[in-house]
Amino acid sequence: MSNAKIPVIIDCDPGIDDAVALALAFGCGKLDVLGVTTVAGNTTGENTYHNARRFLSFIGADVEVARGADKPILRPLITAPDVHGKAGLGGLSGAEDSGMDDDDRDTSGRSALDLITETLLNHGEKVTLVPVGPLTNIAIALLARPEIKHKIERIVLMGGAALEGNRTPAAEFNIIADPEAARIVFESGVPITMVGLDVTHKALIYPDEIEALRKHGRIGMAIAELMDFYGVFYRKRFEGNPVHDALAVAAVFESDIVSTRLLNVCVETSGEFTLGRTVVDFRGVTGRKPNCDVALGVDRERFINLIFDAVKTLEQQSQRRF
Ligand code: BDR
Ligand code: CA
Repeated sequence: MSNAKIPVIIDCDPGIDDAVALALAFGCGKLDVLGVTTVAGNTTGENTYHNARRFLSFIGADVEVARGADKPILRPLITAPDVHGKAGLGGLSGAEDSGMDDDDRDTSGRSALDLITETLLNHGEKVTLVPVGPLTNIAIALLARPEIKHKIERIVLMGGAALEGNRTPAAEFNIIADPEAARIVFESGVPITMVGLDVTHKALIYPDEIEALRKHGRIGMAIAELMDFYGVFYRKRFEGNPVHDALAVAAVFESDIVSTRLLNVCVETSGEFTLGRTVVDFRGVTGRKPNCDVALGVDRERFINLIFDAVKTLEQQSQRRF
């Protein structure tokens, strides 16, 4: 097996689980993160951009962050303050003692659209896109520069659900937040892996694991605090917290951490009760070509171990810096 790192671009809306996804991406040692782009979703575009910069600086990740869409392609912005807090990173959003200072490093000034398209077109190898927020930036890039399709290895996204939704009974948040964008992405012809609620709701981090994380230095502590906030919402429904976005990152470098089926998935953009549903054709009744590897099973313990390993690595790297 090759030791080469997998080139990726992460598109996110931090967002508590987005932050854990970034920690996993930079701490796993398996990914070459060519850029991080942000999109409005869990909170405003301004907040997600600043949260990404602050969190990446906090974990010591040196990467370009480019700001993307402030609203969905056609619809008004919907956010998730009940899950992620008003500013997106729970109690850490504005806390002066969070250790997360504003990132005052220079910015490239590139937009998310430019970062995505220029990186794809100029990079020597194909690149994997990892969108873990609404799909607005990815859809815009595919529409603006369709030639990028040939440079995308695959899209491993957190979003959708074959069974139950979370924002509505039918729909998952990232898809209903911008259903038109999701439809453009699912109809793009680019290979897609859908890491949806069917698996993220099984990949819970339990309270005793959060307590163990808290003992792993400032990064473990910060992630545990994020989980404390997030748990207030999730513990009403689950025994632990689903760390949705981090599972999509894990599925890039440990693809067999999820088991998948290649199926046709369409995105509902006009249903009265089903807007944003990812309609999965399990029995092939539509005759439509399969376009998506749908994740249906997950190795939870292995996933949680990956998060611990990444936190330990980041913590060791940060101790070397100080
Ligand atoms: C998804 O929605 C957001 O709130 C999370 O960050 C995750 O990307 C889960 O439905
Ligand atoms: Ca997200």
